[in-house]
Amino acid sequence: MYAFKFIKEFIANPGDVGSIAPSSKQLASQVVESARVPQANVVVEFGPGTGAITEIIIPNLRPDAKFIAMEINADFVKVLRERFPSITVHEDSAANTPKYLKQLGAEHCDSIVSGLPWAFFNEGLQDALLDGAVDALRPGGMFATYTYITSYPMPSSVKFRNRLKARFSEVGVTHVIWANVPPAMVIWARK
Ligand SMILES: C[S@@+](CC[C@H](N)C(=O)[O-])C[C@H]1O[C@@H](n2cnc3c(N)ncnc32)[C@H](O)[C@@H]1O
Repeated sequence: MYAFKFIKEFIANPGDVGSIAPSSKQLASQVVESARVPQANVVVEFGPGTGAITEIIIPNLRPDAKFIAMEINADFVKVLRERFPSITVHEDSAANTPKYLKQLGAEHCDSIVSGLPWAFFNEGLQDALLDGAVDALRPGGMFATYTYITSYPMPSSVKFRNRLKARFSEVGVTHVIWANVPPAMVIWARK
């Protein structure tokens, strides 16, 4: 049911949605582990879509952790609020995360889980979103996103990783998660 909604939104807004299918449970679990969600006090998700990764974040949160999700697509926001009534979903760009952390009474977050389709964004938007992520994270905080095996060697993907290296103290890539369409790797970065 959510996969159908996802495809419909991909057809309507390919540049924002960026992939034809939601992430698999295996990919979602690796992103959550790489972002160190179970150790975090404050967690932010960028671009949850219909909630494939949100579904894995929620049971991994510490009981006292705070969690917000940033999603620009109004239809996805509706789905997320129906699926996960206990979480806070902001219908706004991930670039504005620092504003919502302040509302939460938190100066920084410890963990950012990103499902944003970086390959579809121009360099200016990538910079704005990554600068927002760095501002939002505490020193030592973790950022994790994923890239498809098909796009990993492409110059745009190499440039994206260089953008991360320019902003974070450490950047790494996991093994390939084959149980995803298409297979993907998680890219993680420590502030
Ligand atoms: C590839 S989908 C990922 C969905 C889900 N996280 C998953 O892994 O299946 C990308 C999502 O990012 C959202 N998005 C795109 N630009 C955004 C932005 N600037 N701020 C927040 N969400 C954004 C899209 O609406 C879409 O839901």
